[in-house]
Amino acid sequence: MFSLLARSVTLKRFASRYGMTPNGFARRFIAGETITEAIEAARATQGRGMHVALDYLGESVNTTKAAIAASREYVQLMETIVASGIERNISLKLTQLGLTIDKATCVDNLRRILEPAARHEFFVRIDMESSRYTQLTLDVFETVWSLDFRNVGIALQSSLHRTEQDVRRMNELGARVRLVKGAYKEPASVAFQQKADVDAAYTRQMRLLLDRGVYPAIATHDEEIIAETRSYAAERTIGHDRFEFQMLYGIRRDLQTSLVAEGYRMRVYIPFGKEWFPYFMRRLGERPANVGFVLRALLGEKSG
Ligand code: FDA
Repeated sequence: MFSLLARSVTLKRFASRYGMTPNGFARRFIAGETITEAIEAARATQGRGMHVALDYLGESVNTTKAAIAASREYVQLMETIVASGIERNISLKLTQLGLTIDKATCVDNLRRILEPAARHEFFVRIDMESSRYTQLTLDVFETVWSLDFRNVGIALQSSLHRTEQDVRRMNELGARVRLVKGAYKEPASVAFQQKADVDAAYTRQMRLLLDRGVYPAIATHDEEIIAETRSYAAERTIGHDRFEFQMLYGIRRDLQTSLVAEGYRMRVYIPFGKEWFPYFMRRLGERPANVGFVLRALLGEKSG
């Protein structure tokens, strides 16, 4: 249902009009449409003792011109981040850089970002998109890795059957992995369908990463998995500086704060930009209760 809604032009127009007003309902999950707003959110987050990753929203770009433009925007964005003094850490999607056009275009655009990123000591995380792009995304990742870029890491989704192998491969390379459950609706042929199976896979992969990975990011709001990660790390005397937790902007701020108070590293993923609608719809899709929250906000907004 959410993928249908996400494609609805009427809903998109409606959301664009009301979602990002000063008290708009989408602001819970998205820092704003401009880099200035994202930097403001990043400063506030760092002020709470946390780390940040900025994500300039955009995906499924289908012309070479638009993909090159997106890579240029990322380069400008990095310059603005350097000037602002906030932490140098960004996240991006390869379909924003031309993955749907062809792999070579995407590699070129990614290199346009990774070169200045390396000069300015940025870490660049590649998000993982739907399973249609998993192999291609990993191919592009391994291509830039073979070109000796080391300021780059990847996200892997525990919901996919293939992920355990991918975790082992990334551990072999020494590449940094962000482990997530997976935000895309996938068929049973490629992904677990039951939450319990996804969670069990996540726990197994978290252990593999803590045992053999390089500074893994345990990216989840799931309290049980977080508790399991903490006890696994404690049993094996894996220090708090050898991994980090990550959460999304606007989700479980209470848990973010308590983990930091206990001495864990917490990075908050801060999305921003005009192309926020698909990201926003994925957050709604994860939690049906969010739909009620949006409807209430919408009614308030329209009557207010
Ligand atoms: P789960 O869905 O089981 O939720 C656990 C608890 O978290 C819920 O009970 C609720 O309290 C809270 N919660 C979760 N989602 C919520 C929401 N939308 N609104 C309010 N509360 C919510 N996915 C992907 O496919 N590719 C990627 O690259 C990334 N990148 C990424 C980065 C970071 C830093 C994070 C934290 C997550 C991602 N994701 C992602 C999204 C991820 O795949 C997953 O969809 C969400 O994190 C939700 O799953 P949880 O692990 O939180 O567990």
